[in-house]
Amino acid sequence: MSVEGDGGADGEPAVPVSWRELLGEARARLGSPNDARRIVERASGFDGAEYHLRLDDAVTVRSAAHFEQMVERRATGEPLQYVLGAWSFRTLDLYVDSRVLIPRPETEVVVEVAMAELRHLARTSAVALDLGTGSGAIALSLAREVVGIEVWAVDRSPDALAVARANLAGLGRAGARVRLVEGSWFEPLPPILRGRIDLVVANPPYVAEAEVDDLAPEVAHWEPRAALVSGPTGLEQIAAIVEAAPRWLNRPGALVVEIAPHQRAAAISLARDAGFDPVDVRPDLAGRARVLVGRV
Ligand SMILES: C[S@@+](CC[C@H](N)C(=O)[O-])C[C@H]1O[C@@H](n2cnc3c(N)ncnc32)[C@H](O)[C@@H]1O
Repeated sequence: MSVEGDGGADGEPAVPVSWRELLGEARARLGSPNDARRIVERASGFDGAEYHLRLDDAVTVRSAAHFEQMVERRATGEPLQYVLGAWSFRTLDLYVDSRVLIPRPETEVVVEVAMAELRHLARTSAVALDLGTGSGAIALSLAREVVGIEVWAVDRSPDALAVARANLAGLGRAGARVRLVEGSWFEPLPPILRGRIDLVVANPPYVAEAEVDDLAPEVAHWEPRAALVSGPTGLEQIAAIVEAAPRWLNRPGALVVEIAPHQRAAAISLARDAGFDPVDVRPDLAGRARVLVGRV
């Protein structure tokens, strides 16, 4: 513990508490050891072994203010991911805030399935389209993990695209192969892409209006409604994508769409009606039917 006026580890003015004391305070206020630790890691900048080694360091005035602001926000119910302003998705450390859906583990499986479809297509240079890109989680993962791929990413929300753009800026060289476009599903794409897209992947809104009350309060209150809610049935946006995708897909080509488990039968029938064959639904890590796959 340091005394007021002492320098913090980086020579900045410090407050008379250690990170260990702030950790205890955050645990008591939030009732969650995990959230408390994540907030201390974020405010201190310590991670891995450094975190344990430096818990007794002096806290700088600036870090203490950041810590206090994060604990306050979390205490009001704001999701941890928005409070931290960062969340990991596959190999990425994404910036996230309340303009975008928080990327979920099941969507990491969607990317895994999409990459397996690309391997099956075995093209030397593939073109992929991520519909409803949000934070850019799917598009940027594909760009980073698939050598030489060209990725188009669409979202109707200019706010979401601003977040995707910030994440794209942090992607490095792979970012040069990603294009972000504003508009509804296929509508903003240049006509030259018709019949040239090898993979269409999407995590569209698929919650029915009547299901909104069943969402966890943290989700319903904080995450963007336009990212969650599809319309009266929940299937409207999946149907729009499945129906239009064949006109944009190369032959052979693949469609990979995240769905809710109870939409399995309806999604399969939509894909068959649109001309996909074969059609399959793959499970997420918990074994729930989650990923619609159709080939043309
Ligand atoms: C469930 S979020 C998915 C975000 C991100 N792909 C992910 O998996 O974390 C759905 C996204 O679709 C966008 N969206 C909703 N309707 C759209 C439409 N008609 N055209 C394009 N994007 C749309 C929303 O703005 C939101 O960013």
